[in-house]
Amino acid sequence: MIGSQRGALCPVPVFVLGVGGVGAALVRQIVEGRGSAAARAGCRFEVVGLADRRGALLAPDGLADADLLAQLAAKQRGEPVGVPWDGTPGAAIARVGELVGCGHRQGILVDTTAAAGLEPLLDRALDLGWALALANKKALAGPWATARRYFHHPRVRHESTVGGGQPVIATMRTLVDTGDPPREVSGELSGTLGFLCNRLEEGVAFSSAVREAAARGFTEPDPREDLGGRDVVRKLLILGRLAGWEMEEGDVEVERLVPPALDALPVREFLEALVDLDGPMAARAAGARNAGARLRYVARAAAGRGRAGLEAVPVASPLAGLKHVALRTARYDDEPLVIGGKGAGVEMTAAGVLADLFSLAREVVR
Ligand SMILES: NC(=O)c1ccc[n+]([C@@H]2O[C@H](COP(=O)([O-])OP(=O)(O)OC[C@H]3O[C@@H](n4cnc5c(N)ncnc54)[C@H](OP(=O)(O)O)[C@@H]3O)[C@@H](O)[C@H]2O)c1
Repeated sequence: MIGSQRGALCPVPVFVLGVGGVGAALVRQIVEGRGSAAARAGCRFEVVGLADRRGALLAPDGLADADLLAQLAAKQRGEPVGVPWDGTPGAAIARVGELVGCGHRQGILVDTTAAAGLEPLLDRALDLGWALALANKKALAGPWATARRYFHHPRVRHESTVGGGQPVIATMRTLVDTGDPPREVSGELSGTLGFLCNRLEEGVAFSSAVREAAARGFTEPDPREDLGGRDVVRKLLILGRLAGWEMEEGDVEVERLVPPALDALPVREFLEALVDLDGPMAARAAGARNAGARLRYVARAAAGRGRAGLEAVPVASPLAGLKHVALRTARYDDEPLVIGGKGAGVEMTAAGVLADLFSLAREVVR
C-alpha cells in the first residue's frame, strides 16, 4: 500500500523523468483527468518528482496542479524544470531515494525520456518497490540479459512503446496470459517511414519526402535515426520478446533506407546526398504499383527471428493500410488479430502511459 489514504482517495506517487512532448502531455492529462482517476480507480496521481536533463523538482506530498502547469509553461519558454542537477542516472537514483526516505515506499517512476543507459535507475526503483511506466524503448530493447527483468516483472508497464498508445502491448499480454502467444507478429511500426512510403507512392522524390518529413517534425532531428530502421527494430524486439522469444538485435535483419556511406556526413550534406537515392526508390515504388501492391516498410518476427524492410504488400492485406499490427496465433490462425488506427503523436502516447498508471494503481501500487 503506498502512501496513506487521503480522504477517500489513495495517493499514488508518480515521478516523471523527461518533460518533453510526451512527459508534458502526460502531466497535463494527469491534471485534467483528476475526476476520472478518482471515480474509476479511487486514486489521485501525485506528481512527487519532475525532471528533465537540466533540472529536477521534488515535492514528497505531490506538486499542486497550478505549480505543475506553471512548470510546463516555464519549460515551454525554454527554462529547465526545478533545481539544476546533472541529469545522470546516479543523480536520479538519489532523487528517488530521497522520496523513499520521505516515506514513499512505493510509487511509479515514469520514463518519458529517450535516454540510453537508464537501466541502473530503473533497477534501483524496482528494488525499492517502485513500479515503472516506460515510454522509452531503450531499456526494453537492450541486451536480453538486462532487459529480461522488465518483461517478467509484475510492476512494469510500457503500453506506449509500440503502436503509439493503441492497445498493442495489452493485447499481446492477454494472448500470452490465455495460452495463445503470437506465432508471428507483423506491422508497420514507424509513422515516419509510413509517411515516406505514402509520398513515394504519390510520386514525390525520396529526398524531397525526407526533407518534408523533417520540416514537419515527423523525423528525429537527424532523419538517419528513422531511415536506418533502428527504432523499428527496437519495437520489433519488444513485440518478439513479449511473444516469448529471447531475441537480440542481431536476430533482426534490417533494411536501411540509407547506405552506411552517408552516416558520417553532417545532416545538411546528408539531406543533399539523398538525391542519389531518388531513382532507386522511385523504381521500388513503381515496382510495387505495377504489381498491384503497396510499398510499405514492414517489420515481421516469428520463432525468434525478425526482418524489417520495404515490401510490396498486397492491397487486400491489413498492412497495406498504415498503422496496423497483425498477430497470428494458434487461435487467430487463418485470420490474424489486427490492431489498427491512428497511432502517433504525443497526446496518444501520453494516454498510453496514463493507461499504464491506471493499470499499476489498480493492480499493483495500492
Ligand atoms: N513523440 C511520440 O509520438 C512518441 C511515441 C512513442 C514513444 N515515444 C517515446 O517517448 C519518449 C519521449 O518522447 P518525446 O517525443 O517526448 O521526446 P522529447 O520531446 O525529446 O523529450 C525527452 C525529454 O527527456 C528529457 N531527458 C533526456 N535525457 C534525460 C535524462 N537523462 N534525465 C532526465 N531527463 C532526460 C529531456 O530533457 P530536456 O527537456 O532537458 O532536453 C526531455 O524533457 C521517447 O523515448 C520516445 O521514443 C514518443
